[in-house]
Amino acid sequence: MNIDSDNQKTCPQNGTPTMPAMERFFNTAGPTKPDLHYQLDPLQRLDWDEVRHLIDTQRYFVLHAPRQTGKTTTLLAMMKALNAGGRYACAYANIEGAQATRGDVGQDLPLVCKVVAQAIDDACPGAELLHWYENTGADVSALGQFADLLSYWTRHCAKPVVLLLDGVDTLVGDSLISLLRQIRSRYEQRPHAFPQSIVLCGQRDIRDYRMYHGDTAVMAGSSVFNIKAASLRLPNFTQQEIQALWQQHTEATGQVFDEAIFPAL
Ligand SMILES: Nc1ncnc2c1ncn2[C@@H]1O[C@H](COP(=O)(O)OP(=O)(O)OP(=O)(O)O)[C@@H](O)[C@H]1O
Ligand SMILES: [Mg+2]
Repeated sequence: MNIDSDNQKTCPQNGTPTMPAMERFFNTAGPTKPDLHYQLDPLQRLDWDEVRHLIDTQRYFVLHAPRQTGKTTTLLAMMKALNAGGRYACAYANIEGAQATRGDVGQDLPLVCKVVAQAIDDACPGAELLHWYENTGADVSALGQFADLLSYWTRHCAKPVVLLLDGVDTLVGDSLISLLRQIRSRYEQRPHAFPQSIVLCGQRDIRDYRMYHGDTAVMAGSSVFNIKAASLRLPNFTQQEIQALWQQHTEATGQVFDEAIFPAL
């Protein structure tokens, strides 16, 4: 590394300016990024072998935890690891913002489809799902669009596909029922014409996906998501994990924390 007259770090080979190394910091907003933030390995926070086994055995399952426990961080790390593994094409989509109304299928599901199509395009270059959806996929009833989208992706991808769907329980009423029903409707066609695995992530456990129509309880996803063992709970951060995080700062900066503060954190 050379330093030029403006104190700009430059590459010794070609003299082009290079970015100074970022000092990592404690993240308090949104998912953590390993290059920017102190981070616990997200895949160590859940039983990664079990998750991989569920995916390898074509299971659809729920990952749930309360707010701010690292769900999104963990799902993004899962996508990275699965894509790096080379066996699957994996996309992560957050549908938190994809609702126009509280339960109007005709408005909510097209928004979900667009978000998911864009996320697939981002994760799997060349998929061109958004283009397909806007020109063809959106022409059928909203009651079938999501299933068609996943089917189209699966059929046109060289690898079995895995979808990690975040913020699922922000959908309510008929919109959530329709999303789960569309998944269930093609479940038997996996992995050649529907995803190998789908992970539904939100704050609620699967048993809470029971909804009521009048007096009738409707388990919209029951035959697909009713296996208790496949409803995983991401644990809260432990005292040990929090201390390990502080230790990363000590190692990076030399600043030592008084042990007396840890119980208060
Ligand atoms: N692996 C990790 N290592 C260290 N801190 C983490 C990790 N994962 C999450 N956090 C902390 O938790 C916060 C929330 O992370 P994230 O957004 O992934 O959680 P979430 O459960 O998806 O939250 P929300 O319920 O708001 O969607 C981060 O801003 C960070 O402070
Ligand atoms: Mg989140």
